[in-house]
Amino acid sequence: MKQSVKLIAGNWKMNGVAGSLAEAEALKQALDAEPAACRVAVCPPATLIDRVATTVKGGAVEVGGQDCHVEVCGAFTGCVSAEMLTDAGASLVILGHSERRAGFGETDADVAAKTEAALAAGLEPIICVGETLEQRQAGDAVAVVSAQVTGSLPESLSGEAFAVAYEPVWAIGTGLTPTLEQIEEVHGAVRAAMVARLGEGGRTAPILYGGSVKPSNAAEILKVAEVGGALVGGASLKAADFLGIIRAV
Ligand code: G3P
Repeated sequence: MKQSVKLIAGNWKMNGVAGSLAEAEALKQALDAEPAACRVAVCPPATLIDRVATTVKGGAVEVGGQDCHVEVCGAFTGCVSAEMLTDAGASLVILGHSERRAGFGETDADVAAKTEAALAAGLEPIICVGETLEQRQAGDAVAVVSAQVTGSLPESLSGEAFAVAYEPVWAIGTGLTPTLEQIEEVHGAVRAAMVARLGEGGRTAPILYGGSVKPSNAAEILKVAEVGGALVGGASLKAADFLGIIRAV
């Protein structure tokens, strides 16, 4: 089977001040010196997108946002639109992260609408799905994640670049990871749900794994069938750790 290029994306979440630009600079320089065998992206907080994009300009590092509003502009205090992310230098955006679903009440329908807004602005969405610990313990992981994929991918998606990220909620920031068999099972289910939803258009987009990925476990996770990359939180904040994951590809 033909292997497509993997995507390793770092989600800085609400971490990062101007000092973090040194990490972006170090990442760029390391990849300039020794190119990665994958695509590499960092998704800093909105306040840093412009400066990170400027810092990594001319190199291989792509820049993304962590969320966007569905509208292009208007009276939405505190929000950032997809157009604004593009304007600031982003080319990707994380959507439907479990921290937004749980903390801000985002539904699958909201995520689908944001995906459409992101695509209209020329961004590549990374659409997140994942079960809670209770849902896994109840044996519902595959059903929950499949339903999230179906609800969060707009039916109109066809041919545009996008990715899905499977992030079990209980694995995020905990140091816990599913077994490789569990990852393979859910990624297979995500692929099936993508194809059921989009037809042929659902066959090629990468499915990233996220949740406590670090240099020491990245290689084995990235070898699992249907793992098309990783969405990395804590281990993306320091260039040295993030490079350890990138070099595992
Ligand atoms: O979006 C990435 C994330 O939720 C995983 O975080 O810190 O477990 O790698 P972390």
